[in-house]
Amino acid sequence: MKFTASCAELSGLKTDSLILPTGSELSNSAKVVNELTHNSIDSAIESGEFKGKSGQVLVLNLPQSPLQRIILLGTDGLSNQRQVKKAVAAACQALNKTQSKTALWVSGLMTDNLEAEASIVAQSVNASLYNYKKHNAKKSPNLEALTFWTTEQSAIQSANSGLEYGAAVGVGMNTAKQLGNLPANICTPSYLAEQAISLGKAKLSKASINTEILDRADMQSLKMDSLLSVAEGSEEPPKLIVINYQGAKPDEKPVVLVGKAVTFDSGGISLKPGRGMDEMKYDMCGGASVLGVMNALVTLELPINVVGIIPATENMPNGRATKPGDVVTSMSGQTIEILNTDAEGRLILCDSLTYAAKFNPDTVIDIATLTGAVISALGKVASGVLSNDQQLANDLIESGTQSADPVWQLPLWEEYDELLKSNFADMANIGGPQAGTITAGCFLARYAKDYKWAHLDVAGTAWVSGANKGATGRPVPLLMEYLRQKSEATSD
Ligand code: BES
Ligand code: MN
Ligand code: ZN
Repeated sequence: MKFTASCAELSGLKTDSLILPTGSELSNSAKVVNELTHNSIDSAIESGEFKGKSGQVLVLNLPQSPLQRIILLGTDGLSNQRQVKKAVAAACQALNKTQSKTALWVSGLMTDNLEAEASIVAQSVNASLYNYKKHNAKKSPNLEALTFWTTEQSAIQSANSGLEYGAAVGVGMNTAKQLGNLPANICTPSYLAEQAISLGKAKLSKASINTEILDRADMQSLKMDSLLSVAEGSEEPPKLIVINYQGAKPDEKPVVLVGKAVTFDSGGISLKPGRGMDEMKYDMCGGASVLGVMNALVTLELPINVVGIIPATENMPNGRATKPGDVVTSMSGQTIEILNTDAEGRLILCDSLTYAAKFNPDTVIDIATLTGAVISALGKVASGVLSNDQQLANDLIESGTQSADPVWQLPLWEEYDELLKSNFADMANIGGPQAGTITAGCFLARYAKDYKWAHLDVAGTAWVSGANKGATGRPVPLLMEYLRQKSEATSD
């Protein structure tokens, strides 16, 4: 998909579809288009077909006019980034239905921030072109090129940088979506490791990337017995994937992203009920989002150092599987009584968090489909964020708002931590029926004491169920926004 910014005379531009954001009061650009098309927009408003309300989409086919087709996008009442993103997504859906090869986006959604509008358009277009079946096929979808149009010559440069950034984020989301959607018999820990290895072979001009895979023996030597206890009941060998992206000076401390990748979570001996169990193929979406971010970083070559750590394993029951009541010693030396083998995410994350310290991190963020409880708390709108550093939590909340990939904070108070008490080990791996997302966070916090750390619980946001079942690519936009802001802050 090719994106370009232009400020050439509208009447001279050729396109299969022109997308025009406007309210019921026509914007200046809308007036120009209206004139070029024999008052087609005025007519649509007069007839009541187009009301200009936020997110409304109306396709006008104009075979007689030099502009083949106009897709009107309502802007009245748009008041936040989430609504903007929804409106853009609706326009993309309509655009794809028209089978257009070329499109022209008339800027006008976010008049005060053209770069952000260009970025959200490119991201949404690329994300809308994702198709599970076609993803690996050679034939590309219909849309091939989009021109982002603005009246401001002076804004072309920032529009182009917005397009470049958004396009990379969209492709990174699609990487995460595809890995999430692949069935667990294909997307195994070894498969994820192979994807990471091929990403690690990218040849970059301003940055470098390297992948290292730790296998069971390596993890045994590191004493990662908590992580290994989850893999015990599975025939698939576990992998600890480590991707090192260096876009800044080698001595600059990295951001470490730790992504849970349970390629199938049956619950283990604490077996889950059968209903909807297929969706536990998505229990690797945290890890997939880290691969999506790495993919986008490789495209953009952002000046920042980022290490991705992805503990990948299945959680299965067999004769060797970990049993409720078993006690394991984590890499940190802390012992854990495993009261429920279905609380396995924290068991693989805790050893990964201990391992993360080796990189002398500036910040560590883990991303995990960790608890069903976060869906009760926040539904499918916001991811949960818990952090031992309020500034980091604020930064993530702000990045979530900016990227329309929102997160909401939950507390990590000691009253919750006390619920992890065990009579037989330093802690239990569950905290009882209440505040499940918070007790999971408190468990992880015990392994993240040496650095600034945040935990993102994406169990509600990484995929959708029902008729449109599929991975969402979240929280790639949030993480990329956070990294972009951070790279800008440190390279100044
Ligand atoms: N992967 C699940 C969390 C999950 C459940 C995500 C449903 C999305 C939908 C996780 O490993 C899990 O099973 N968590 C348990 C924890 C409990 C045993 C303390 C849960 O949330 O029920
Ligand atoms: Mn589980
Ligand atoms: Zn799980």
